[in-house]
Amino acid sequence: MLVKKSVMSSVVKSVLFVSTVLFAGVNFADNSRQGLQVAAVSDGFNAEQKYMASCFACHSTGAAGAPKVGDGNGAEWTPRMEKGMDAVVTNAINGLNTMPPKGLCFDCNDDDLRAIVEYMVENST
Ligand code: HEC
Repeated sequence: MLVKKSVMSSVVKSVLFVSTVLFAGVNFADNSRQGLQVAAVSDGFNAEQKYMASCFACHSTGAAGAPKVGDGNGAEWTPRMEKGMDAVVTNAINGLNTMPPKGLCFDCNDDDLRAIVEYMVENST
């Protein structure tokens, strides 16, 4: 009875050991994959392309009072950036007055939108 119990417990131990190793292996694979990504933007994401496709229509002309993007438009962005980048990105995600939620880019995730806003601000000096 005593022997049988110790055999059983060593079987349980080796099952636990194997599953711990497997679990650790999976975790390691996940972490290294995340480590390779600079930010959690969508696959194949390109801020300039998305800006041109979704935001350019309003933000190049200043339609409906949109802050203009491009050289010489830094003054349009300075007062907005005083709220801090997080607040400005949140407004882009949720919308603000006539600025539509997500700037109508419905396949953009939050990190994509942040990257587009950074692109817009960096290109408006
Ligand atoms: C239909 C026109 C329209 C489109 C399309 C649009 N915007 Fe806007 N956006 C606006 C307007 C208008 C404002 C000014 C809102 C206000 O301050 O009342 C604005 C403001 C903003 C601001 C400033 C927010 C703040 O806190 O001051 C950001 C950032 C922004 N837009 C990002 C984007 C991005 C990114 C896209 C594309 C993914 C986009 N917009 C597409 C009209 C548009």
